[in-house]
Amino acid sequence: MKKILLAGLAVLALGGVSMAFAQGDVITQRRAGLKRMGEHMTAMKAVADVRGPGAQFSGTLDEMIAFYQGLPARFPAGSGTGDTKALPTIWSDNAGFVAAANDAVAKLQALRVAATTGDGAAFQTAWQAVGPTCGACHRTYRAR
Ligand code: HEC
Repeated sequence: MKKILLAGLAVLALGGVSMAFAQGDVITQRRAGLKRMGEHMTAMKAVADVRGPGAQFSGTLDEMIAFYQGLPARFPAGSGTGDTKALPTIWSDNAGFVAAANDAVAKLQALRVAATTGDGAAFQTAWQAVGPTCGACHRTYRAR
């Protein structure tokens, strides 16, 4: 009986360790992804600033749209501790967090449309509408 209990505890302990690794991976990967999104925004800014047409960014924007559609899934319960700036509000107000992600997706989809029309002024306006959706989420759900 005692042996079985000990074996059970060992399995639990191992499970705990692998879970800690998995959470670390999730944090590392989402942070790398978000960093990449920031770089995409900077690259597009250079074109938006001079009202370039932005057609070359359609692939980038497909990637960004997919990333933000999947963003909430990159914050599983329990991934709020460790090397992360994720705030507990992500889980206590998860509906708000998902809505903030959806808002970013909607603005990115509009930017994707503007990029394909080849209208530089429209690209600039649509690019400017994306940044506030990043900031809105960061204000409530990310530590400074
Ligand atoms: C739905 C919420 C949400 C939206 C929308 C959002 N972010 Fe974030 N962002 C976060 C959270 C939460 C973190 C902190 C992640 C962590 O530390 O685990 C973060 C972190 C980051 C980081 C830091 C990554 C690192 O190196 O640790 C960058 C850069 C970033 N976001 C850029 C952006 C940009 C650019 C946009 C808009 C295109 C955006 N984010 C939209 C929630 C969001």
